[in-house]
Amino acid sequence: MTFLTLPQVGRRIPVAEGQSILLAALEAGVPYPHGCRSGRCGSCKSHLVSGDVEIGKHSPFALTDEEKAEGLVLACRSVPTGDVTVEWLDDAYVAKPSAAQDAEVLSVQAMTHDIVALHLRLADRVAFRFAAGQYLSLTIPGAPSRNYSMANRPDEELIELHVRAVPGGQTSTRIHGELKAGDTVRIEGPTGAAYLREAHPGPIVAIAGGSGLAPVKSIIETALHGGSDVPIHLYFGVRAERDLYLVDHFRDLERRFANLTFVPVLSQDDAAGWRQGFVTDALAADHATLAGAKAYVAGPPIMVDAAWAALSARGVLASDIHADVFFTPQAEAGKET
Ligand code: FES
Repeated sequence: MTFLTLPQVGRRIPVAEGQSILLAALEAGVPYPHGCRSGRCGSCKSHLVSGDVEIGKHSPFALTDEEKAEGLVLACRSVPTGDVTVEWLDDAYVAKPSAAQDAEVLSVQAMTHDIVALHLRLADRVAFRFAAGQYLSLTIPGAPSRNYSMANRPDEELIELHVRAVPGGQTSTRIHGELKAGDTVRIEGPTGAAYLREAHPGPIVAIAGGSGLAPVKSIIETALHGGSDVPIHLYFGVRAERDLYLVDHFRDLERRFANLTFVPVLSQDDAAGWRQGFVTDALAADHATLAGAKAYVAGPPIMVDAAWAALSARGVLASDIHADVFFTPQAEAGKET
């Protein structure tokens, strides 16, 4: 039997044949920092203190060759070949999920042709503490649980989630077609390592694709509400004009906060009045350097990969890029946004 030692929580855990460090830790109830579970976001980056692992396929941005040479690994892609000792890198905050609880649906509001905003009142809001950028697991009767990011600030009472109707997605289809005010749902969490690092002194760059705007909204509004006066650049990429939402809301914030710039970008629509192209190209065109910035990225895998490349090329450290990858259920059971 192989064992995994985690000094940060004082645990020694058995690891099954072929099991990753992350999975072994999560199964043992350790709140190991993670995001995508697929080697793309870098949230589970860890220091291999002793022992050896086999590292599986991963994005070169989530773990660079230099980092590998320094003894860093991705816990979600690392299978121990013998006993190992591992420490995760960011010990500032580890989500401590609270017990599952009921929530009342207060409203289901159409934001675009395929995104609704849910507002929920939790049975015990005080027990549900989260950091801006994290997500929860939502269960509605008769459908599998899915992860959705909080779009509200952690200090606000109501929970706001943005749910995109995923073609063939059981849960999102039922949320769009059947869920209504007064219904009861179940939530559990929070989870997610792409949360706002409030102590970081440099600029903030946030890149959202589609309903990836939800965690980014929470991050931006929490930073502004907390009095942050660093430059904050928000890039919002969608396919077409009809996919845009909350534009007036962010334009209004832009007027109220001189340090915020909001840039919506359309990738497949030449509608007049909007920036055209890929959102990451717009970011790259606007900034020759972003050295010292903290970056938060939320959206589909292809956008997250492009963001890593653009941010890295502009001097943002890998340790300063926090990504939340939104998969379709076909790609991976889990986040359906
Ligand atoms: S959780 Fe391991 S790289 Fe995303």
